[in-house]
Amino acid sequence: MKIAIVDDERDMRQSISQWLALSGYDTQSFASATDALAAIDVDFPGIVISDIKMPGMDGIQFLRKLMGQDSTLPVILITGHGDVPMAVEAMRIGAFDFLEKPFDPERMSTLARKASNARRLTLDNRALRRELSDASLLMKKLIGKSSAMVRLREEILDISQADGHVLIDGETGTGKTLVAHALHAAGTRAGKKFVLLSCGALDEPVLMRRLFGPVLPEESFLPVFEEARGGTVVLEDIETLPEAVQARLLNAINSEGNPPETRIIAISNLQAPGKILKDCLRQDLFYRLTALSITVPPLRQRGNDILDMFNRLTETFSEDYGCDPPTVSAQEAAQLMQAPWPGNVRQLTNLAERAVLQARRGQGKIASLLMSDANEVTSVVTTEGKPLKEYVEAFEKMLIDNTMRRHKGSITKVMDELLLPRRTLNEKMAKYGLQRSDYLN
Ligand SMILES: Nc1ncnc2c1ncn2[C@@H]1O[C@H](COP(=O)(O)OP(=O)(O)OP(=O)(O)O)[C@@H](O)[C@H]1O
Ligand SMILES: [Mg+2]
Repeated sequence: MKIAIVDDERDMRQSISQWLALSGYDTQSFASATDALAAIDVDFPGIVISDIKMPGMDGIQFLRKLMGQDSTLPVILITGHGDVPMAVEAMRIGAFDFLEKPFDPERMSTLARKASNARRLTLDNRALRRELSDASLLMKKLIGKSSAMVRLREEILDISQADGHVLIDGETGTGKTLVAHALHAAGTRAGKKFVLLSCGALDEPVLMRRLFGPVLPEESFLPVFEEARGGTVVLEDIETLPEAVQARLLNAINSEGNPPETRIIAISNLQAPGKILKDCLRQDLFYRLTALSITVPPLRQRGNDILDMFNRLTETFSEDYGCDPPTVSAQEAAQLMQAPWPGNVRQLTNLAERAVLQARRGQGKIASLLMSDANEVTSVVTTEGKPLKEYVEAFEKMLIDNTMRRHKGSITKVMDELLLPRRTLNEKMAKYGLQRSDYLN
């Protein structure tokens, strides 16, 4: 822990600093509050001891500034002998404590120790909270309430707490890279480096250098394994790794202890049907890398999520483009739900953006976009992995949501259009968490 000592008198600064340095503190002296302010930021790893009577900015003003920046920073103020009102004022503003001149060095050490302990606790808590909120932020980015997505999130949390290397596989555009970020952020390595390398695009010599070095004079990067030491290395397109690189990687893995210091997340992006990763890698490496594995489910197995995501995406794009989101007809909703989505979330995102652009021009239906989307979307109907009930409910929710939106929350008009009695409509809206107030404008 550091101690910033602020006093305009040189002798005073020196004696305080010497005494505290003897007690093992890392001290830093400043002749004015202004100088000190420039050096003390929100996450200052230490405490402050400051005189009150100083030319320029005095100790009370200094304290106010510090409290405005971080009200938890322990500040100990030095007051003149018998200056009770000043001491009271300092405490009221948020000083940790005060020392009366001439002060007792022992009392100063005790106070400094208490203040440092308090500071350490605050900073530790703060770091922990930041880590957790980053991880939960990433988990929130993974949209989806379907059972497949709930399971995926559980797997991410479990595996993030385990040691050992991880394989992530799944179709293109399913979110494998996003999952790798979430795995890192949710685990014990969250504060450490996360370095991602797409191996597929690099040829063997470049790959070798990027991963292990040595770096050529004209290049300005650190080898991936050095840069990420203690953190996470993500290797995308692991199936393309040339044999020599595989051998070197195996060596690197073997030379690390168990559990490994640096976690490798291998991402497999096998597109060719029938090809399996086990045939692309040497067996010893394959088993080292796949001790733990996560398969990201294809979009077509995520039931409700398809329509929910489509709605969220079109809303976001509409805001970006400054127009109303397109409405989706019952038939279109059915088509979205039944499409095979070979490009998964990425394809859905593209389609949503095109749907918004089309709606902005005031022409065309989503159905026609679906038709033109490489014929894939409408030509194959699939109900793979989707229980009928989930399918029907998603459909129903979508339909009510859209009809409400079109009629700007007029219950009577929605009842008429969907031929539903008021009570049934109310029940269904409650069931799907739809609120009339959201549609009024
Ligand atoms: N569950 C999800 N919720 C929200 N956005 C998602 C989700 N899954 C993926 N995405 C988004 O979809 C896009 C594709 O995801 P990502 O790049 O992670 O897929 P990938 O499986 O790594 O693709 P590729 O196989 O091409 O490497 C990204 O923009 C990502 O943020
Ligand atoms: Mg990817």
